[in-house]
Amino acid sequence: DLLASRGVPAPVAPTVRPRRLRSTPAMRRLAREHTVDPASLMQPVFVREGVSQPQPVEAMPGVVQHTLDSLRREAVACARAGLGGVVLFGVPQERDEVGSQAWAEDGILNQAVAAVRAEVGDALVVCADTCLDEFTSHGHCGVLRQDGPRAGEVDNDATVPLYQAMAVSQAEAGAHMVSPSGMMDGQVAAVRAALDATGHDDVALLAYSAKYASAYFGPFREAVRSTLQGDRRTYQLDPANRREGLREAALDTAEAADMVMVKPAGPYLDVLAQVAATSPVPVAAYQVSGEYAMVEAAARNGWVERERVIAESLLGIVRAGADVVLTYWARQVAENPGWLAS
Ligand code: PBG
Repeated sequence: DLLASRGVPAPVAPTVRPRRLRSTPAMRRLAREHTVDPASLMQPVFVREGVSQPQPVEAMPGVVQHTLDSLRREAVACARAGLGGVVLFGVPQERDEVGSQAWAEDGILNQAVAAVRAEVGDALVVCADTCLDEFTSHGHCGVLRQDGPRAGEVDNDATVPLYQAMAVSQAEAGAHMVSPSGMMDGQVAAVRAALDATGHDDVALLAYSAKYASAYFGPFREAVRSTLQGDRRTYQLDPANRREGLREAALDTAEAADMVMVKPAGPYLDVLAQVAATSPVPVAAYQVSGEYAMVEAAARNGWVERERVIAESLLGIVRAGADVVLTYWARQVAENPGWLAS
């Protein structure tokens, strides 16, 4: 025959056969290296001021801007599903140059924190987003320089005290955890100091450490009705940089962050893996709005199998080393264990 006539020897039957561990569902379950645990998932949730019904977010099918009432019900459902926590984002009615609704006691985000905490107690980790972009009229994560040659720039050192005020107000509203996400230099140390000085040394700090200037945040802009013109490239990381992500995580750890984060997740698994390999604190990853929207859109067209892609995308993030995952699918995944276990 073709091979023998040309001197190709018959293959030796392999002794090592990795396929043995793939032979049945039970064998695969036994041999599985990683699982997605609902207790390690956090559900990002939007709450909008001045609406009487939840408002769908078009670019994120299945995601809504909650009323305070529907938010309470969502939080209870998240606790029942066994999630690790919720991360709250506010969509205020009024915005101004400095974002003053961010630290107003009756600001929508602080009301939401208080409402959720009253509803779920300690059954979930109640985490508040600590950033001004939803609250400023220009949509940037900090205040802008008013005059001089740098007018219009996001002013790092003028913004940090506003994050301090926001974090303290969130702690006072009942947040277990605050999460500075604006990528100002020094924000973690400053927020930690403000919490400690006001008697909130028990409030944990999740630092958005390696947050990239990403186009994957697109649908989020609709979810928070962002007014941003332009981009955030002067304060968020350049997508081309891995070492810089590691540096940011190390800086935040030195500034006493209790957890560090890489964001987005899927397109930055290399950064995530490397941060996870060296981080002395737990590492979170944020599967962002664009990652969610792309899968939902493709699934709607029948182009991918929705549930399998969701499970696989989360497994990839966990396999890369995330201890905690923020994902818009958190509750659904927890309520449907079969998606992850097949
Ligand atoms: C800003 C913030 C953003 C997201 C979370 N916090 C948007 C941005 O930086 O432009 C994006 C989350 C997502 O896309 O799901 N504080």
